[in-house]
Order: sequence, then structure tokens, then C-alpha cells
Amino acid sequence: MQELMVEPHVFVILGTTGDLTRRKLLPALYHLRDQGVLEEKNTLIIGAALPEMGEEGFRLWAYENLQKAGWRNEKDLRAWCDKCLYYHTLHQGSPQDYEALAAYLQRVEKAHGMGGNRVFYLALPPATVPSAIEGLDRATLLKSRGWVRVVVEKPFGHDYHSARTLDMLLHRYLEESQIYRIDHYLGKETVQNLLAFRFANPIFESLWNRNTVENVQITVAEDLGVEHRGAYYEQAGALRDMVQNHLTQLMTVVAMEVPVSFEASAIQTEKLKVLHSVAPIAPEDVVFGQYTAWQIAEQTIKGYREEPGVPADSLTDTYVALKVDLNNWRWKGVPFYLRTGKRLPRKMTQVAVTFREAPAQVFQSLEPGSIAPNKLLITLQPSEGFSLCFSVKSPGRPFRLADHALQFDYQTAFGQLPDAYETLLRDVMIGDQTLFVSADFTESAWCLYDPLLQGQKSIHFYTAASWGPREADALLERHGHQWQLGW
Ligand code: BG6
Repeated sequence: MQELMVEPHVFVILGTTGDLTRRKLLPALYHLRDQGVLEEKNTLIIGAALPEMGEEGFRLWAYENLQKAGWRNEKDLRAWCDKCLYYHTLHQGSPQDYEALAAYLQRVEKAHGMGGNRVFYLALPPATVPSAIEGLDRATLLKSRGWVRVVVEKPFGHDYHSARTLDMLLHRYLEESQIYRIDHYLGKETVQNLLAFRFANPIFESLWNRNTVENVQITVAEDLGVEHRGAYYEQAGALRDMVQNHLTQLMTVVAMEVPVSFEASAIQTEKLKVLHSVAPIAPEDVVFGQYTAWQIAEQTIKGYREEPGVPADSLTDTYVALKVDLNNWRWKGVPFYLRTGKRLPRKMTQVAVTFREAPAQVFQSLEPGSIAPNKLLITLQPSEGFSLCFSVKSPGRPFRLADHALQFDYQTAFGQLPDAYETLLRDVMIGDQTLFVSADFTESAWCLYDPLLQGQKSIHFYTAASWGPREADALLERHGHQWQLGW
């Protein structure tokens, strides 16, 4: 595949003083420069936000945060910040503020002989995204001699209706090919490797169906709580924050048919077909949970209701487990179990494919339950790789079986993996939408979950640092399964 080059452009981050820029965007941009993907003369970064910090203030802020993120080459860091970073105060984002931004941007472009290529990255609170788009359009920032691309962070809307309204607004001013809806899970190397794993290895692809697979489980477990994001989380909850986007994306990558090519549209078509095959999710197949405090010896972990910005009687979900059925030829009858939660025992993202048992048991004289089904565990984080688990004979007598795994570790094979944001920012700059979310996908995903969001929901409490409410175990037990906990 031919590598596309990054053309000279200005990269504008709206809402640049937030966490996302500090933790993800700046380190990714600097690392891309460090690797030679971005040249200093071809990417200028303009931060625009409410505070009055001036160019110098912004450069210093960026420099200090990059150092905190682990970058130690002081001289080079400082030089990059001074040469490539610019700042403009956006105040409250009134039409006049956007006009002033346009004048500033044009000055920077002119001073560096830029041809008018622009990326606008909306790192903004969701409620302010529509007015930012209107502001950019009115100040004619979306019309340029060069190309214009707009990156929209998740959550994209908070239900089907709001996502559709946002899409209509975007489409009023932009072509779909200019809109980059970001879901950082799609930028993770291991998620992309799922495509390689499935479609470059016929041995797995031939087993990837209802004839051989018993069930599929997708777990995104986090050990952290909501921390300082209580106010946002109260509006979201785990179903909106994680399931509608990250877990649903993972499910479609695991379940999709072979695309006709590796083009963005071919992949997006197949993923969308998976969503269209999902049967309505029965309320009894969904478990919502919320973490409560945990205390052992000197250590205490706060419950969700004690977190800053969270009311003491909150019924917001910090955990969701659900069963999804796909009504298609490949997967009919194979449950896909999805679960995610905050304050679980450890951080782990894993896809577990459990294969069917042998039709006749040659080893039936052995202890019942001693033969484990084959499993393929694909770990996306923290230690990226996969394990193929199978039964082997234990040496000696009596004849016994043991469960073992063939393991592949991504970092051992390839070293440090790039951060998801690096991959995605580079893709925006070269105009590759393969790893971005289409309008149809995001709207169809909301259609699946809207009935659950609108319905009556019971919250089951679980102690922080446990694996979630016992009702989630009962959900699988009802179908003869149990959660995999990694290898
Ligand atoms: C974000 C969610 O999209 O993903 C957060 O808003 C969550 O609540 C985060 O913690 C998890 O991302 P990662 O890459 O750490 O698994």
C-alpha cells in the first residue's frame, strides 16, 4: 500500500486547554514530529480556547505538559513549541470571536506561506460543538483554497435524535469526506490487528462462525473510577460513554464479513451490516451497575456517589453487561456478551472467543469438567497480544489433560506501539478515513441502545475492585456460560 504524505497545513485545536490536548493531542503531535512524520515547516498548531494566555503562555504550558508526559529533550521540546505552536483566545466563542480567529489564522498562514489546508479539531464539551461549527462557518473558516477537515470527538450526540441533528448540521457545511468522527479505540494497533488477524490468516477465518464458536465476550475493564469527570459522567453513564462507541466498534470488527478491499468505505459497509443484523436487545439481557466504596486496612476507595460532582442519590451506571444476538448467517445463535465497568480489579480490554466442545468426547472417562473448550483470547490492553488455549496431555500416568496456551506478545515482537491518537491524527492529516466512524454507524449504534437508555433501568451495586454485580454473572449462567477472566 502506498504511504500518503502529510501536506503542509494548519492544525487548529478548539478547546485546547483541556485534558485531551494535554494528555493525548500534544504528545501525539510531538511524537509524530519526532519520528519525522511531521516536518516543522508543514504543520503549524494553533490552540484556541477561553483563557487569555497568549502565545508565550501557551508554549510554556505545552512545554511543561510534554515534559510531564515523559519527553525529556528540553532543548528540542522548547524549540518545537516556539516554532510550531500558536495561540488565540476564543473567549466565549461568539461570532466576533470566530471572526477574530479567522483573521489570526490567515495571518499565520500568510506569514508561513501556507496554502490554506486546515484541520479543525473540536476538543470541546459536547454541548458547545454545534455552536462551534456554526461559528467556524460564519467566519468562513470552513471555506478555503486548500482542503478543510473537521474532527469531532466522542460522545457524538447523546441519543439517536441528537446525533442525527449534529450530522445534519455538519452536512450543511461539509461533505462527509471532510468529517472525522473519532473513536480512539479504532486507532489502537491491536484493534487494527484484529483485521489483519482475521483477514490475513485463513486458518482463523475458516473457524470464525456459528459452526465452531460457542460465544464471544468483549470486556473493557477499568481500575480507575470517574475521578474528576463526575459532572460529565452524570450526563453519560457507561452505556453512552463506552458501549455505544468503543465496545460496539470492537463487536463489529470481530463480527464483520470479509470486506471487498481495505478501503474505508468497504470496511464501513461491512461494519454497518453487523449493526443492522443486531436483534432488539431484551431488557432482561442487560445489567446496569454502580460501584460502592471499598475499604481494606488503611486503604479506602470512594464509591461513585462520593465522587466530586456526583449527587448522593445518583442512579448513573458505571458498569454495563449485556447480551447481543446477531441475526445473520454467520452468527445466528452465538451470543456476543459485552461488558465494561469502572473500578474493576484491573485495567483489561479483551476479546474472548470460546469454541464449541468436541461433538463426541473421546476422553469422557476423565474427571467431568476437566476438558476445557478451546479459547482464543485477544488482549488489546495492557499487554497486547493473543493466546490460543488448548488441551494437552499432562506427562505421566494416570492419563490427564491440562489447559495450555500458545501466546503471542505484540511488544516482544515489535517493541513499543504507537498511541492511538498518533495513528488517528496522522490519518486525519493524510485524509484517510478508514479508522473513523461514519454518520450511518453512529446513528445506527444509537438506535440499538436508545430503547435501553429510555427504559426503566435498575442499578445493581458492586463493591469497587470487584468484577461487577453478581447479576452480570447470572446473566451468562442463564445461557450456560461464564465470564472469561484472561489467561
Ligand atoms: C473514553 C471514556 O472514551 O475512554 C473514558 O470517555 C474511558 O471514560 C476511556 O476511561 C478509556 O480509554 P482507554 O484507551 O484508556 O481504554
